[in-house]
Amino acid sequence: MADAILVVDRLEKRFGGNRAVDGASFEVARGSITGLIGPNGAGKTTCFNCIAGAIRPDGGRVTLNGQDVTGWPPHRVYAQGLSRTFQIPQELSGMTVLENVMLTARDHPGENLWEPILRPWRVASREAEVREHAMAMLRQVNLEPLAHERAGTLSGGQRKLLELARALMADPELVLLDEPSAGVNPTLASRLVEDIRTINRERGVTFLVIGHDMDVVARLCDRLVVMTSGRVMVEGTPDEVLNNAEVQEAYLGSQYR
Ligand SMILES: Nc1ncnc2c1ncn2[C@@H]1O[C@H](COP(=O)(O)OP(=O)(O)OP(=O)(O)O)[C@@H](O)[C@H]1O
Ligand SMILES: [Mg+2]
Repeated sequence: MADAILVVDRLEKRFGGNRAVDGASFEVARGSITGLIGPNGAGKTTCFNCIAGAIRPDGGRVTLNGQDVTGWPPHRVYAQGLSRTFQIPQELSGMTVLENVMLTARDHPGENLWEPILRPWRVASREAEVREHAMAMLRQVNLEPLAHERAGTLSGGQRKLLELARALMADPELVLLDEPSAGVNPTLASRLVEDIRTINRERGVTFLVIGHDMDVVARLCDRLVVMTSGRVMVEGTPDEVLNNAEVQEAYLGSQYR
């Protein structure tokens, strides 16, 4: 691939005797929205965890922006431009939507003990900058009107949008989304698709998205990678993949037709 932001090469991860990821190889083109699909237990989430550094692979290589990041801890992979969504922890549900987004900002000088005493003006201006940036991210996912509501009052779908806004705070180049529309009502799921497409187009952010809902995935993605039993079975455009006889037989045939 000419310009791959992410290269996953013969990735392996075992849990005891279970080969969760068993030599998976695929690439994600810079600027694309790539879907990772496959039946339950295919190893999709485990792949994500290996890419983002949450777990160490047993074999293979992950290359991000030309840099070998295999086995790096999550904060280093994050600093290299990869972001992923996390569920809003219970403790943060009492804080406002805006505060939740602001909390993810890096290098928060308010956390430096001496900075507020020695250079209070810098803290104040940085605080205002972070607030403004957080507001821009909320605007991007159409949550600006809810900025001052408590996060705990959001619906499931709105929460997903907030998680996306949080993931965008660090200006990532690549964002991993694990089933962003799971449990989200169809109206909000469509909004989520629109938001991801807009962010991709306007900010040039590349997305790698695990999805189950074929309608959502086909509408959202430029390319699909199909995993079964820890390996990549087929790759291509949504049209190519969804019309592939092997895919229909092994995966779609059983579950979606
Ligand atoms: N932490 C773990 N410890 C032990 N086994 C695990 C662990 N995480 C995943 N597995 C196993 O690895 C295999 C792949 O799981 P994984 O969650 O990656 O699949 P998936 O494709 O994300 O499935 P789903 O579509 O259901 O989310 C499964 O057999 C699962 O039981
Ligand atoms: Mg999963």
